[in-house]
Amino acid sequence: MRESGKESLLAKNHASSGARGEERGAEAFLPPKPEPTLADLKEAAAGCRGCDLYKNATGTVFGEGPARARIVLVGEQPGDQEDRQGRPFVGPAGEVLARALAEAGLERAETYVTNAVKHFKWTPDSRGKRRLHAKPNGGEVRACRPWLAAEIAALKPRVVVILGATAGQSLLGSAFRVGAMRGRDLADTEWAPHAVATIHPSAVLRAPDDAARAEMYEGLVRDLRLAAELLGAE
Ligand code: URA
Ligand code: SF4
Repeated sequence: MRESGKESLLAKNHASSGARGEERGAEAFLPPKPEPTLADLKEAAAGCRGCDLYKNATGTVFGEGPARARIVLVGEQPGDQEDRQGRPFVGPAGEVLARALAEAGLERAETYVTNAVKHFKWTPDSRGKRRLHAKPNGGEVRACRPWLAAEIAALKPRVVVILGATAGQSLLGSAFRVGAMRGRDLADTEWAPHAVATIHPSAVLRAPDDAARAEMYEGLVRDLRLAAELLGAE
């Protein structure tokens, strides 16, 4: 009885989500079973139509990394390269991140890497040749949050690293600001015993000059070192 009731509710959600153009959310696309694995979630997310971003992207870019990872890194959304390859942080920002992680004593392969939003949002450049990153809005971040919440619930990490404002706003609320929160242990969050916020690695790439770039990169490494320490202390 309970099961069939749940299924009909799910079917209804699916039907109405297809009919309306506005914000719908990923909730109706989650696997209809308790405690889905990361593989279950990845498979289900491939068919997500919880907001309009799936329409102009190649596919869902889900999180990646070992199920036993004790540290989860959360970025904003896939970029052009990530969209083409179907994997998170494989473009220029991913290179900065991997280098900074290694310098902080963390191997990327030991971490689970994901994003607040799972489809690439972009606008064409003026010549219509390149796809330029466009910032996801609050509605899109909220729509996609069930995937991020389900990934973290499946992993039960010791440490969550928040890479930039979008990830922070998804996990800690719309008042989140990197400058106010970075570089310390945000202990006892609803997501993990420890959380560390830092800049998004693409901010390093956007720095106006070499000095600013070096300073931003050092700050990123410093915050990741704290995350490494908190992981080691557990
Ligand atoms: N920027 C992000 O936030 N995530 C990616 O996967 C790539 C670039
Ligand atoms: Fe679903 Fe997130 Fe993609 Fe929107 S961005 S369609 S909520 S996976």
